[in-house]
Amino acid sequence: IKRIGVLTSGGDAPGMNAAIRAVVRSSVYHTIECVGIFRGYEGLIEGDFEALNARSVKNIINRGGTFLKSARSEEFRTKEGRQKAYNNLKKAEIDALVTIGGDGTFNGAIVFNEEFDFPIVGLPGTIDNDINGTDYTIGYDTALNTVVEAIDKIRDTANSHNRLFLVEVMGRDAGDIALNAGIGAGAEEILIPEQDMGRDRLVESLKRSKKSGKSSSIVVVSEGDQIGKNILGLADYIRENLKEYECKVTVLGHIQRGGAPSCYDRVLASRLGVGAVDALLNGERAVMIGIVHNKIVSVNFKESLKGSNKIDEDLIRVADIISI
Ligand code: F6P
Repeated sequence: IKRIGVLTSGGDAPGMNAAIRAVVRSSVYHTIECVGIFRGYEGLIEGDFEALNARSVKNIINRGGTFLKSARSEEFRTKEGRQKAYNNLKKAEIDALVTIGGDGTFNGAIVFNEEFDFPIVGLPGTIDNDINGTDYTIGYDTALNTVVEAIDKIRDTANSHNRLFLVEVMGRDAGDIALNAGIGAGAEEILIPEQDMGRDRLVESLKRSKKSGKSSSIVVVSEGDQIGKNILGLADYIRENLKEYECKVTVLGHIQRGGAPSCYDRVLASRLGVGAVDALLNGERAVMIGIVHNKIVSVNFKESLKGSNKIDEDLIRVADIISI
C-alpha cells in the first residue's frame, strides 16, 4: 500500500478529528501517503481530495465535528455513483480507504469492497454506540457527558418548580445513550427502544415515586422508543393522567453531536486510527477496527452490522433499583 484515503461519513461525532489525525500520522509513520476525502462518499464521487501530512492534522485532536466534513450520500447508493468513486480513486492512485462512520458508512463500504475488490477498513464513529463488535464507538462517551451535563441543568430548574421533565435524547434505534446518561444523571425513568414500558406503567411508576416523597422527576426518553417517538403526545397523555406534576419537554437535539471530545474518545479514536493502518498493512480487508475489553480487535464489516442489541440487562436492573 502506497497511498491511503481517509473520509468521515454519516452523522458526525466528537473524536472523528482525532481518528483522522491518527490515520494520517500512522500512515506517515509507515511512509505511506495519506489523502483526505471531503464530505464522505460525496467527495469520493466528486474527487474532492487533498493530500495530508503530519502537520495538516495539527491542533485538531481537541476539536469536535470533522474537518473533512461529512455527508449522507444518496449517489453512492447507485452503481453509477460508486463507479465514479472508483474511477477517482484509481486516478488519484489511492490503494486503500479508511472510512469513519456508522452503519450506513459500513453498508456502503461493504458494497464498494465487493464490487471493486477495494481494500477498506472502517472505524466506528457515531454517538449512538449502535455498532456490533465494539464495546464503544467514537463520540459516544462525549455525547454521554453532554447529555448528563444538560440533564443536571434541567434538574436544577425541575426541582425549583416541582416539575416533571421529559428529556429526549438521540441514539436512533439504540438506547445506549438514554440508559447510560439516564443512570449517570439520576433519572427517575428511562425509556429505551429495547424495552417497551408502556404509557400506563410509566404513569403508575411516576405516581408511586411522587407519593414516596419525590418533588420533581426526570424521564429520559430515547428518540427510538416506541412511546417516546411522539414525545409531545406522551407529554399530553401524562398531563391528562398525572395531575401531580406540571410536565415539560426538552429535546436535546444536535448539541449531543458537538463539542470537544472527551479524553476517552480522543484516546479511543487514536488507538482505532493506528489500528486501521496496522490492519491494512496486515492485509486485512472489509473489516472494522473496534475495542473489546480494552483490546483493539478487527471485526468483519458484516459482523459489525448484526444488530446493536448490546443493552446490558444488568444496567436496566441498576437503573430500576437506584431510581426507587
Ligand atoms: O447517528 C447519529 C444521529 O445523531 C442519531 O442519533 C440521530 O437519529 C441522527 O443521527 C440524526 O441525523 P441528522 O443529523 O441527519 O438529522
